[in-house]
Amino acid sequence: MPDVGATGSGHPAKPISVDLCASDALVDGGAGLSFDVVYCARPARGFAVRFRGRVYAYLNQCRHVPIELDYQTNQFFDVSGNWLICATHGAMYAPETGACLGGPCRGGLAKIDVTEHAGRVRWHTAPNLFPAD
Ligand code: FES
Repeated sequence: MPDVGATGSGHPAKPISVDLCASDALVDGGAGLSFDVVYCARPARGFAVRFRGRVYAYLNQCRHVPIELDYQTNQFFDVSGNWLICATHGAMYAPETGACLGGPCRGGLAKIDVTEHAGRVRWHTAPNLFPAD
């Protein structure tokens, strides 16, 4: 891990990027990838998906009940491949923004910054978001 200065919590003071996967691991409108994070000092999961060529990532936590969206591992899209869906009660979210589009969600998904370069996808830490150790 790069030495970018540590906070009192032991986490880097400045945002860092974390290698996630090869670009072709994310299927457009299909299988995504979930990953471990620490969010607000608690263990949590994030997930990344590809939609219309671009990669997006969110905290894997529904805005209805704070549980993970995927019932089948890494499956976040509905059957149409156009919407992210929570498998528990069917809340629907926009892949590009995480906004709630229907169902019982209250608010949108928490976004995680991602970049894609040279065939690799990386996610980026935030003041309340760190890699799991
Ligand atoms: S827990 Fe996601 S819709 Fe109810």
